[in-house]
Amino acid sequence: MPIDKQEFRRVLGHFAAGVTVVTTVGDDGKPYGLTATAFTSVSLEPPLVLVCVDKRSDSHAHFHTSRVFAVNFLAADHEPLSRRFAVSGGDKFDGLGIHQSPTGAPLLPDALGYLACRTVDVIDAGDHTIVLGQVEAADAREGEPLLYFRGTYRKMQQ
Ligand SMILES: Cc1cc2nc3c(=O)[nH]c(=O)nc-3n(C[C@H](O)[C@H](O)[C@H](O)COP(=O)(O)O)c2cc1C
Repeated sequence: MPIDKQEFRRVLGHFAAGVTVVTTVGDDGKPYGLTATAFTSVSLEPPLVLVCVDKRSDSHAHFHTSRVFAVNFLAADHEPLSRRFAVSGGDKFDGLGIHQSPTGAPLLPDALGYLACRTVDVIDAGDHTIVLGQVEAADAREGEPLLYFRGTYRKMQQ
């Protein structure tokens, strides 16, 4: 018997996750992006990562058609940025001063780290699409991450 949806969500919430904003560029040349915790590294050789994008999100179509995306790791003080990218509609990039990654996908200023990826596969997975990318450029800086645990934003405590 399949697990109850509410219970599934509740249990998943107990897995602490780093928060990312995953971005891409549309056929119209505009930047698109969403807050995502469903990100993971996949392979070191070749360097592969994946992100799971909800089919109901506005960005979904653009991740499907675009061949590039970037994963921006959010820092501890980026909760407002995460909230901004977790809402559909409007120009989420307005006033952010984004710059282009080497693959063309937009990078957020001051991210803790980024991975610039070229899409190598899109895999149908229930109500989400798995976007698999090969990393072509990456960088990171010193700092603390933004975390998400049991439905709330957290900071690391040492
Ligand atoms: C902490 C957090 C994590 C999220 N993780 C994901 C995720 O991994 N994949 C996803 O598709 N949506 C995720 N979402 C939801 C999207 O950010 C949200 O649906 C967003 O509005 C989609 O934007 P869009 O419709 O403009 O594409 C997450 C939201 C929050 C607050």
